[in-house]
Formats: sequence, C-alpha cells, structure tokens
Amino acid sequence: MESFWINSLNKNLEYDKLEDNQETDVCIVGGGVFGVTCAYYLTKSGYNVTILEKYKIGEKTTGHSTAKITSQHGLFYDYLINSYNKKFAKDYLDANEEAISNIKDIIDNEKISCDFEYQNNYIYTTSKEELKDIKKEVSAVESLGFQNCEFVTKTGLPFDIKGAICFKHQAQFNPLKYLCGLCKSITSNNGKIYTNTTVIDVKQENDYYITYTENNIVKSKYVIIASHYPFINFPGFYFTKMYQSTSYVIAVDTKKTLFNGMYINCKSPIFSYRTAKLDGKKVLLIAGGDHKTGHPTCYKDSYGLLENEAKKYYPNCEVISKWSTRDCISLDKIPYVGSYSNIMPNMFVGTGFKKWGFTCSNIAANIVVDSILGKTNKYSYLFDSTRLKPIKNIDEMKNIIVQSANSLLLDKLKKPNMNFDEINNNSGSIIEIANHKVGIYKNAEGKIYAVNPICTHLGCLLSWNDVDKTWDCPCHGSRFDYTGKNIYDPAFKDLEVYYTDT
Ligand code: FES
Repeated sequence: MESFWINSLNKNLEYDKLEDNQETDVCIVGGGVFGVTCAYYLTKSGYNVTILEKYKIGEKTTGHSTAKITSQHGLFYDYLINSYNKKFAKDYLDANEEAISNIKDIIDNEKISCDFEYQNNYIYTTSKEELKDIKKEVSAVESLGFQNCEFVTKTGLPFDIKGAICFKHQAQFNPLKYLCGLCKSITSNNGKIYTNTTVIDVKQENDYYITYTENNIVKSKYVIIASHYPFINFPGFYFTKMYQSTSYVIAVDTKKTLFNGMYINCKSPIFSYRTAKLDGKKVLLIAGGDHKTGHPTCYKDSYGLLENEAKKYYPNCEVISKWSTRDCISLDKIPYVGSYSNIMPNMFVGTGFKKWGFTCSNIAANIVVDSILGKTNKYSYLFDSTRLKPIKNIDEMKNIIVQSANSLLLDKLKKPNMNFDEINNNSGSIIEIANHKVGIYKNAEGKIYAVNPICTHLGCLLSWNDVDKTWDCPCHGSRFDYTGKNIYDPAFKDLEVYYTDT
C-alpha cells in the first residue's frame, strides 16, 4: 500500500522531465519540503530557480512523513542545555517556534487548503520509571522561559499515561497539499520544476556550477542540495556524519470518534499518534517500529505491531494505508544547514532533520535563502554544516565505522548461511553462487528476482528487509526494491540485475 498522503491527493505532483540544457540563478536538487520551500522564498525574492527532482514532488520522505509541525523533537531541550548551553537550547526552540508561524503565514498568504490545524503536542510515558525524564524535560523547557509548556497526567489518548510534557499551539497538516500550494506559487513566479530527472553530479567551474542530469546540464551561480541525503560524497563527507532510521506508519479508520492532539512516547518501542482528514472524517495515523536502516528490525512484522496497537483500542478498525519512511540523523542530533563545504562557495545543503522535517526544513530554507540574499540569519550558527566540533555521540560514530568496515569488507567475505532452496516464497536472502554473492527474492508465487546485492553508493553489502521487501544498505541507508530499482538515496543508480523470471 502507498502513503496515505499520496493516496489522498487527487492531483499528481508530476512535472515535465528536463529535456534541454538550462541556465538559472539557483539550481535546487531535490523536490521535498526543504527544496520546495527554498524555491518558494527565492522566487518571491525575484530569483530564477530550477528544481530537479528524481521522482515526483514530495513523493519520498515528505510524502511518507507523519507531518507533525512541532518544536518538540523528543526529550531534546534537557539534552541541548547539557550538551551546549541555555542560549543554544533557547535559540533552537525559538527557531522552531518561528518555523511554525512561518508555515502558517505561507498557508494564509497563498491560501493553501492543506488541512492545517493547531494541535497540542505531547511526549508521554506509561512507565513510572520514565516519569523522571519527562519531569526533567519540563524543568529544562521552563528554564528557557517557554510559556506554552506544561506537565499533564491526562490526555485524549484512549489509554492511561503516567505523565506527559505538552507543547501547546503546535500543528499538523497534509504535507502534499501544502507542497501543491508552494509549487503553484513557484511556477506562477516563473520558477521551473522538473520531475523524473535524476541529478548525477555537480561540478564547480570558475564562479558557477554545472549540475549534470543523465542527459542535460543546468548552469547556475548557486546550487542547493536538498536531496534528503547529500549524494556528493567528496567534499562534504556527510556519509561519515549521519545514519538513517526507518520507521513504519499505518492509517486506520477506527470507526470511532477520535481524540485531539499529537502524541509520541519517550522511549522504545516508539508509538506516535496523530489524526488526519479523509473525505470529511478523521482517521488515525500510528507510526513506530523504528530501526536503523539496513539493520535487522527487532519486530518481525512492523506493520503488524502497529495494527495490534490500533486494535487494542479500536477492535473494529480497518487499516487503509501503510508505508515506511526514513530519516537522516546526524551524530550530534543537530541538522546540517549552510555551505555544502568550505571549498564550495555558493553551494548549500540542508539535511539531518531527524524525524522533525517540517520545522527543520523551514528553518533551513530561511538560513540558506538568507545566505543567497546576503542577509544574516541569527539561527545559522546552530546548524553550521561545516562544524568540526568533537562528536558527542561516540558510540554511534563507532557503530558507523564498524558497520561500514563490516559491510564493505568482512561481510562480503562471509559465506551466507542460506542456500537457494531455503528461501521461502515472499522472502529474500543473499546466497552464494560460484563464489559470487547474489541477492534473491522469491515472490508469493515463487517468481525469482536475482540482483547484485552491492550498494551502488559506496559498495557496502546490502541486507534484506522482509517487512518492505527491499534491499537496504546498513552503511548510509540507501534502499532498492526487490527488482533492484533504487528507491532512496544517497545511491542513485539501480542494482545490477542478474536474473528475473519472466
Ligand atoms: Fe552508502 Fe550504501 S548507502 S554504501
């Protein structure tokens, strides 16, 4: 099944493919919410802008999110105060609160009908032991002088909690309807949008850049890499600084009256709740089952886990959509926004938005656009993309190094413990044939799809995701469907296909 947002949109966010060479002021690589928001602000300021998107607009991370617009990014402010300082935490909070207002201003100014509604956002716990963490977060946020926060023990959820931290006046919307409105404004201000257009490289030449697609080029003074995961490996080295997390979402018709508010619990296993509108009625979105992309999930059936959760409270509910998504997470949990690298002036990036892409992408768009316009942005220091601060998350950094070494070298030498006959229908695995690793998937009828299970990004050995029937990369999170088609970056090339049953 496809994302609820994609299913519920009666319009296709598809534009022409780029078929000629072009010249523009700003070339934006990626048509998710960050790239489109940059294009929106820039075209309003009179810049010529070209967006190049590999798929359709908003079809990947933006269209697979839960679309909560909130300053609450988990229990984060206590972490920020302890890891940085109070000013840093306060500025981070202010930047996010401003982003909520900015999004509302855009919606009002452009008259975008996107089911935007203010909602309170809650981080809750049902465990007595975790209550102290919630209370610590409440004290941290109060110490920043934020008035819209309170500790509560009662919520609209259909089960009891021990306590929650509530941020008032947060919001939710339909992300693709929002992108439709932005795209309408961009094109009416002479911005150009191309979809089904894959960028394969960007090169600096004198004082401009050439962005290469498969068959054409775009020449521009500025480039913004808005492709979720920065795919240009050197310089930038973003593949050493971030990992990706996959999570799963279901949309449920509960056949009951639903609550108000947006919710997420504070510790694993994560469950996130919000409501959404479908044909005048409210449906429930539940997300969770998070795991590092390319690593085995601890829940064999992640969608089943979510469905069971829904059935506990709404026994007659019906699942109407299910989908997975993934997010880039930096090692210090702060997004990277600003110059792509110190040696590439006028090339910008916004990435590592964790699971909070709507406020983060608006902040990032404002920072990048201000840089292009030559304005100072008071929040840019928070997200400095070229920072070389000591990495605080040493454990995760070690994990990345060990995982990359294993997937690049050691796992490739290991003999797979499966053989062809042991692979069940509707499942996949890596086997060895004549000393070569082969990725095999057998569909429900036993039809065979055989691919080279080596990631086309930097060559790591892929792993099989039995929940989504995809080949996932444990190194930097690229994903490929069982036919070998690339569905998520940083890789942009498909897998080599060895064999497909006809
Ligand atoms: Fe980098 Fe696969 S995503 S090697």
